[in-house]
Amino acid sequence: MVEKVTLSVIKADVGGYVGHSSIHPVLLEEAQRHLEAAKGDGIIVDFHVTRVGDDLELIMTHRKGVDDPEVHHLAWRTFEECIRVAKSLKLYGAGQDLLSDAFSGNVKGMGPGVAEMEFVERESEPVLIFMADKTSAGAWNMPLYKMFADPFNTAGLVISPKMHEGFSFEVHDVKEHKRIVFHCPEEIYDLLLFIGAPGRYIIKAVYHKGTGEIGAVSSTQRLALIAGRYVGKDDPVCIVRCQGEFPAVGEALEPFSMPHIVEGWMRGSHFGPLMPVSVPQSNPTRFDGPPRVVALGFQLADGRLIGPRDMFDDPSYDEARRLCNVVAEHLRRHGPFEPQRLPLEAMEYTTMPQVMERFRNRFEDLGD
Ligand code: F6R
Ligand code: MG
Ligand code: MG
Repeated sequence: MVEKVTLSVIKADVGGYVGHSSIHPVLLEEAQRHLEAAKGDGIIVDFHVTRVGDDLELIMTHRKGVDDPEVHHLAWRTFEECIRVAKSLKLYGAGQDLLSDAFSGNVKGMGPGVAEMEFVERESEPVLIFMADKTSAGAWNMPLYKMFADPFNTAGLVISPKMHEGFSFEVHDVKEHKRIVFHCPEEIYDLLLFIGAPGRYIIKAVYHKGTGEIGAVSSTQRLALIAGRYVGKDDPVCIVRCQGEFPAVGEALEPFSMPHIVEGWMRGSHFGPLMPVSVPQSNPTRFDGPPRVVALGFQLADGRLIGPRDMFDDPSYDEARRLCNVVAEHLRRHGPFEPQRLPLEAMEYTTMPQVMERFRNRFEDLGD
């Protein structure tokens, strides 16, 4: 039997530097040390530690399948140790993303974001890891739709015999905890009806319709829904396999040339454009933003991560970044008004209800 590889991306905010704008290098070094030891112990095959904004990202390969307790425990322990270091430096919000003191076998539902997929490595296996800061799970809905269902984005859907059949989208209803699969292109209108509301319906995975092979997977953890209160933003991740029967690398990156508007930004309570940047530029500072996305590219070689290439470190994304600044400026001028601020329904998961509570008794009945 051909051995499968598992690609796991597990992330958490382990403490910000300065405020929520970035991460201190010692935390990356601490994580590096832990994963190096785990590689030596044979728990993982290979790894890459990186960050986007204030989020620590552990990219790991192994042979244990998705949801493996040992791999999840490794990530959990690494976060705990990084938090210990972050606390010694009094870095900001250290530990805010670990919602429990005790690990229970899987990091899902405990704060960290997770995207994992298991597959047989192809003769050549290019993968892209997208990581975002200051935004929510659901931010990948539009880009994933464009990559795998929009012929104006992905030429291969029209002209490649390997892609022409289309893709299936697994969508999660994160409020009702249900899933549904849409087959595209025949059900694109049905798919769009749901994923156009990314706060609730989130694309979890995409599969090739002919082979059933997994092409993409995203983290769908919504911190506010897990905790029942505002605890920072989800800052999601997404893995995309490229080339051959999947979108070319350029087709998978193309959606980010249009900085779509996502929820997040300041206090997780505002709409802003998602800015594609290199890792060194992923320091959301203006009004704690605007939200950022980085993309690291790897070639897999028997589980080894060959790379990374910092994909948005490219002048062809300069215009997207410029447009982001223009859109960000326009939205900012709305100040505390919608649509810069999120609608009331979403604000109910922030600290807004506590402020509103003070006025509860001052409301008078209008009578009839
Ligand atoms: C957004 C984010 C920041 C904080 C803001 C206030 O995801 O992390 O915008 O919400 O800096 O932070 P606190 O409440 O920790 O002072
Ligand atoms: Mg933070
Ligand atoms: Mg963050």
